[in-house]
Amino acid sequence: MATLKAVRGTRDLLPPETALWNYVEATARGVFARYGFGEIRTPIFEDTALFARGVGEETDIVSKEMYTWQDRTRADSDSAQSLTLRPENTAGVVRAYIEHKLADTGMLQKLFYIGPQFRRERPQRGRYRQFWQIGAEVLGPAWSGADSALRDAEVLEMLSTFLNELGVKGWKLEVNSVGSSTDRPKYIAALREALAPVKDKMSADNQRRAETNPLRVLDSKDAGDQEIIDGLPKIADFLDDASKEHFAQVLAALDACGVAYTVNPRLVRGLDYYTRTTFEFTVPDGSGLGTQNALLGGGRYDGLSELLGGPKAPGIGFAIGEDRLILTLQAQEAGAKEQKLDAFVAPMGVERNAAALALAQELRRAGLSVEVGDGSFRLKKSFEAADKLARRMVIVGEDEVSSGILTVKDFSAGDQTKVPRAELADFLRA
Ligand code: HAM
Repeated sequence: MATLKAVRGTRDLLPPETALWNYVEATARGVFARYGFGEIRTPIFEDTALFARGVGEETDIVSKEMYTWQDRTRADSDSAQSLTLRPENTAGVVRAYIEHKLADTGMLQKLFYIGPQFRRERPQRGRYRQFWQIGAEVLGPAWSGADSALRDAEVLEMLSTFLNELGVKGWKLEVNSVGSSTDRPKYIAALREALAPVKDKMSADNQRRAETNPLRVLDSKDAGDQEIIDGLPKIADFLDDASKEHFAQVLAALDACGVAYTVNPRLVRGLDYYTRTTFEFTVPDGSGLGTQNALLGGGRYDGLSELLGGPKAPGIGFAIGEDRLILTLQAQEAGAKEQKLDAFVAPMGVERNAAALALAQELRRAGLSVEVGDGSFRLKKSFEAADKLARRMVIVGEDEVSSGILTVKDFSAGDQTKVPRAELADFLRA
């Protein structure tokens, strides 16, 4: 019979690698807590209309990449509801903001999430069909200060702190402003006009984008098209005074906090909801990601809540590609090193198993991490297993049980010590 495998674009995460995932998530939780964020958990599937309206029908995500199915409400019913595995979490968070009337608190909401997202993309290193995001959204009524440039800078400063705390090397922050929801259509019209006479010289992909979503042309990495793209109108020339002022305030606050950035006038990002500030953090080539070097991205949005039937709630948010962050940490050999257990308890003979388990229980209660072998193992096998898993091995033989003096082998020092049972936990902790 053919063996079953994980579906293409999905993967299993196993120990010891999951220790690195936990370390990254614990660091995120720690950093976000210092900035006043609380956790939100929204469902993994939602009404398809949420993403169609929220993320935008014309985006790659909605038009090509969603996992959508017709879900019959009852087995005996013909009425079906279209459901979708979430391709991102901003739309879900804003839906929850509206559904739970968080606007009524009058307070700025600072919410973070950690969880899987689903997109039917062509799988490659750093790009999966089920991938993890660590993200956050800061939103609220305008009077809560949600549209202040200070929030944009605070989020960016928090992200730089997070990456530095993890020890990510060589990250770069690129920022841009895509203007207000009235600036954007003017810019898109100018782009269409500028693309019309030159688009025939561009790649097939860009010819299509020039028609359907001209902003996406700016994202193109197509080498042959770069000269044309560099000559296209810049969004900066289409910003109204309020958007220009907002962007200037964001940059001034980043300067005040000492966060390094470059302004990339081509950074528009692929989701429809962005207004004003957009940003991406990338890592240098050779950081384990191949061409997928965008570690995280995000931006400001105004109008998303109204699109979903809610009150005005400007916001800013980001999502970190956790898979990509982990690949980077592994390539850069940063982050938590693999931890060995404090002790491996090795019973000598099956009749010592119960005593060994009781000793492990005692040590675990004292806060130590402990694995227990099996009395059926030969001494050599116990040694090998213990050496792989733990810093020290505690031998439980007949003498040890009767005398209460245990033999402890230390693998790094290569020596053996006799330790009274009452002192064992302290000895192993040292
Ligand atoms: P996004 O740029 O679509 O933004 O995704 C954010 C990050 O998720 C990317 O920079 C990348 O690191 C990671 N990512 C995306 N697709 C994949 C994939 N197929 N495999 C692995 N990693 C991937 C958003 O999702 C927005 N919701 C971010 C946001 C929050 N904007 C405002 N608030």
